Amino acid sequence: MESLFWVLLASAFSLLMFKLLNTFHRTRTLPPGPRSWPLIGNLNLIGHLLHQSLHKLSQTYGELMYLKFGSTPVVVASSPEMAKQILRTHDRIFASRPQLAAGRYTTYNYSDIAWAPFGPFWAQGRKIYLNKIFSSTKLDSCKHIRVEEIRSFVSRLHASSGNSIVLKDHVSRANLSVISRIVLGRKYFSESRDEKEIVTFDEFREMLDELFLLNGVLNVGDWMPWLGFMDLQGYVKRMKAVCKRFDRFHDHVLEEHRARMKAEGEGFEAKDMVDVLLEMADDPSLEVKLDTNGVKGFTHDLIAGGTDTASTTVEWAMSELIKQPHLIKKATNELNRVIGRERWVEEADFPNLPFIDSILKETMRLHPVAVLLAPHLALEDCIVAGYDIAKGTTVFINTWSIGRDSNVWDDPHSFRPERFLGRDVDVKGQHFELLPFGSGRRMCPGYNLGLKMMRSALGNLLHGFHWNLGQDMKIEDIDMEEVYGLSTQRKLPLVVVPEPRLPAHLYN
Ligand code: HEM
Repeated sequence: MESLFWVLLASAFSLLMFKLLNTFHRTRTLPPGPRSWPLIGNLNLIGHLLHQSLHKLSQTYGELMYLKFGSTPVVVASSPEMAKQILRTHDRIFASRPQLAAGRYTTYNYSDIAWAPFGPFWAQGRKIYLNKIFSSTKLDSCKHIRVEEIRSFVSRLHASSGNSIVLKDHVSRANLSVISRIVLGRKYFSESRDEKEIVTFDEFREMLDELFLLNGVLNVGDWMPWLGFMDLQGYVKRMKAVCKRFDRFHDHVLEEHRARMKAEGEGFEAKDMVDVLLEMADDPSLEVKLDTNGVKGFTHDLIAGGTDTASTTVEWAMSELIKQPHLIKKATNELNRVIGRERWVEEADFPNLPFIDSILKETMRLHPVAVLLAPHLALEDCIVAGYDIAKGTTVFINTWSIGRDSNVWDDPHSFRPERFLGRDVDVKGQHFELLPFGSGRRMCPGYNLGLKMMRSALGNLLHGFHWNLGQDMKIEDIDMEEVYGLSTQRKLPLVVVPEPRLPAHLYN
């Protein structure tokens, strides 16, 4: 009798709990989204271009969409208003990053800024970046580096006059040279295997390409952790391998910097960003100790963040322009008028070149390098636009989709830089229809340097050269397909033929 009583009581209790849980689930209002499958969630709907798959789904489910990647809840924001809700209204709640394999294996277990979870380590690192590395005084103090490298860039292009070149190789070399000199003090890569450096330029480029690709891949083990140990796509193996190559590079750079620090003793003065970071690592007053992995992680962010992003954007810009020669004509008219034909474009000229600026904005609208920004993570339960978003949800902001939103842009699929002339839209995170650098707490700290490098490269490419396609190529042959990664690049590199436009003495 007594046992029957307990069985009845337990059944009544279970029924009550079931009802309560059910009520809780029913009262949670999730954003619209496709029905998900057990174990895989909605991964069956995702193709090799993640941003385009999400864009297509958002056409059905709307500007805020709920999906499951494996067992992980994912929310995708695809309109300026939803981006604003995440990055401004609820900025603090969404200021963290999911702990994905890329951060664990390529940035010393999240010892950098880009992958670090929201917290004191990240906050201190951002402060170091903003005050000691990206302040306008610091950026001004390395202006001569940018000027010298742009001169070498145009000289190298001049030497290739009349020949087909892979444009991105040249722009990347210039950007990598600028970033290496600013961050590491010198280039640390050689032009060929005969020179004695730790890596050649081609090896370094290949390492960066691999790093960017692996930082953007959809690694199944991240979303279905029970499959993680199998590393089905082989990405984790590749992450560990590329990290090993970078680690050897960072060890070499730090060894050289520490040796100078030791040799100069009291008289040591920081000359580059690695010096600044090493000084910080010795600072006992730091709230969170910066160890060697931290110095390597920060250096890694600066080199990776600054190189590929800027050259990818310039390559997209030139691809669009070559398809519409009248735009090149309009840009060169502006350059002839403002700069003349006896000097190169300088940073001080940028405010007087609104059409060049509009070309860059239009490029970042149609081809934002970070098509999904970097993933954000909800630190608390939160309500966005009336929908419940649970703590632990990964949030993607689809800037590629926002750039194609016909509610915001007229004729969104056409490349028309004129749309920005006289329009008050900048790229500094205040206008949510154009967010190439993100917005809010996680916004790109290097945007100012990135803009300087892109404007100089594009301005001088257009000012210094006529651009033709190779003999057998026609405008219709220029393919605009993408490869998805942390920076989304052209599938096929742009191959073009430069011809000088200015007097010969300027190229030496
Ligand atoms: C054309 C140039 C660039 C573009 C388009 C770009 C874009 C971005 C984007 C979209 C983010 C993520 C924002 C978010 O999560 O919401 C980001 C973050 C970041 N960028 Fe850039 N970036 C550029 C240049 C640079 C440069 C020159 C550096 C450094 C030398 C840099 C370093 C970083 C770092 C460290 C972060 C992580 C910030 C954090 O998580 O707190 N970027 N960038």
